[in-house]
Amino acid sequence: MKNILVIGSTGQIGSELTMKLRAEKGGGVTVAGYIPSAPPTGRLLASGPSEEVNVCNAKQIADVVDKYDIDTIYNLAALLSATAERLPLKAWDIQMNGLINILEVAREKHVAVFTPSSIGSFGPSTPHDMTPQDTIQRPTSMYGVTKVATELLSDYYFHKYGVDTRSVRFPGLISYTTPPGGGTTDYAVEVFYSAVKGEEFVCPIAAGTYMDMMYMPDALQAAVNIMTAKPTYLKHRNSFNIASMSFEPETLFAAIRKYIPSLKVRYEVDPVRQAIADSWPDRMDDSCARKEWGWAPTYDLDSMVRDMIANLKKKFQL
Ligand code: SER
Repeated sequence: MKNILVIGSTGQIGSELTMKLRAEKGGGVTVAGYIPSAPPTGRLLASGPSEEVNVCNAKQIADVVDKYDIDTIYNLAALLSATAERLPLKAWDIQMNGLINILEVAREKHVAVFTPSSIGSFGPSTPHDMTPQDTIQRPTSMYGVTKVATELLSDYYFHKYGVDTRSVRFPGLISYTTPPGGGTTDYAVEVFYSAVKGEEFVCPIAAGTYMDMMYMPDALQAAVNIMTAKPTYLKHRNSFNIASMSFEPETLFAAIRKYIPSLKVRYEVDPVRQAIADSWPDRMDDSCARKEWGWAPTYDLDSMVRDMIANLKKKFQL
């Protein structure tokens, strides 16, 4: 029986992962950890317990772990890349001080920890095409700095203290339930909202900029599968490249126009996001994840686009 705490349960990943864990598990509890400025509502609130858990408050984390006999923490609290450039000290505080609070609780109370890394953990000197699992990681954004440090600190707690830390490097995540905020890859979500509402989309990323992207159901499955993988098969831990599709803005817009031909796009490139995007891989090699724990995505560009449009139309009753 697993008792799980999802920290950041009302964010883009957390809001869906919490529901998936609640639906899938037999017996245990999944606690939705939140901060007061983003409380759970609707089905998330109604479907299980929720508790205020700020990653920067070690006592709050420890108390909830004790109260529910938690054995696994999904640590999803983070500022995304463009926001982290604006608020670097806050990003450090949440991503690093928050992480060490969680790892210390995990060490004392024998809890497994998943803290996502990202394509943002790579930098301009990383090979951009088929970026290997083990390669140069010298990111130039604060987000990336915290993600590399997250990987290292998580591995450190595993090797030094035996804390069961595991993670994946998420690509840009595309979803329709909860919008992301302040990320470099957000354009690939926002364009769908403009497309279904018939509004012009202003794209902050230049044509020709390739980045790895993934549909949320595959990302959620990865988060579940990595934490339930047989530990003896894991040669790596923090963190695995995972990939499913890589595209540049024009490819995505063309895929959407197959179903919504009227989509109008204008480019107004944001230099901060563009610099970040240019420093990230075009396409990651995820063969280690495939080999070590059976990673296999199910959505490609076309099936993702179809599902996004159908669900957003339902959401907005269009
Ligand atoms: N989606 C994130 C961002 O754009 C990267 O992991 O910041």
